[in-house]
Amino acid sequence: MLAYLPDTHAPAWATVLTEEEAHNQGKALVLGWHEGRLSLWPPMGRETPVAVDFLQGALGYRISQGRVKHERLVKAMGRLPNNSLIVDATAGLGRDSALLAAAGFEVLMLEANPVLQQLLSDGLLRLQGQLPLRLITGRAEDILPQLTPQVVYLDPMFPERRKSAAVKKELAWLQYIAPIPSHGEEANLLKIARRAATHKVVVKRPANAPFLGAETPNSQLPGKAVRFDVYLPIS
Ligand SMILES: C[S@@+](CC[C@H](N)C(=O)[O-])C[C@H]1O[C@@H](n2cnc3c(N)ncnc32)[C@H](O)[C@@H]1O
Repeated sequence: MLAYLPDTHAPAWATVLTEEEAHNQGKALVLGWHEGRLSLWPPMGRETPVAVDFLQGALGYRISQGRVKHERLVKAMGRLPNNSLIVDATAGLGRDSALLAAAGFEVLMLEANPVLQQLLSDGLLRLQGQLPLRLITGRAEDILPQLTPQVVYLDPMFPERRKSAAVKKELAWLQYIAPIPSHGEEANLLKIARRAATHKVVVKRPANAPFLGAETPNSQLPGKAVRFDVYLPIS
């Protein structure tokens, strides 16, 4: 027999037969099938469900027609050896991973949250290997010490981000199911990432956010809403 044991920060999940039942139970979100995709949405609400779709919608547009090389995330990776492996240690909905994979990097996603793991797995099934993307489920702190990627990319949850309404909605839902790491957890994750990476660690931060783990980066790619902090490896 199997049971899902949620961590103590996470809201309790229940199995329901209908969306209405979830609504009546006062559940904020349902995880279920919508238009053939595993999706997350507020029950009986009007919002578009969120699913992982690596090639469709706005993400599909960004990775198409040579646009991807203009993405700041891709520029933040700098010059890397051919066939470099990037570990996206906080994969979330896999948006950033897809951009990196479309730019030609081999990308390994790590994700600790069981709901995000399911959404990513469903997205990968539908992707059918069309991008060089893989997923390992688990905590980055446990997996990274076994890997030697050229780059570790980190985008941990952060409470405030001023972005478009659609992105805000997704972030609010993500923040509901995945806890915001403590300062100590952030500092530890950065240290483990810097030990694993052979070339650099790239950290995505809101433009006005403090440095991850209060560590000053070796270089930065600034931006209006989001900046990328670059750290060199440590032994
Ligand atoms: C802000 S989201 C990342 C969004 C992602 N960059 C994207 O483009 O969709 C942060 C994600 O990191 C995951 N996460 C946080 N700490 C983690 C850890 N220590 N190991 C693995 N995953 C982690 C969270 O569960 C969450 O899904």
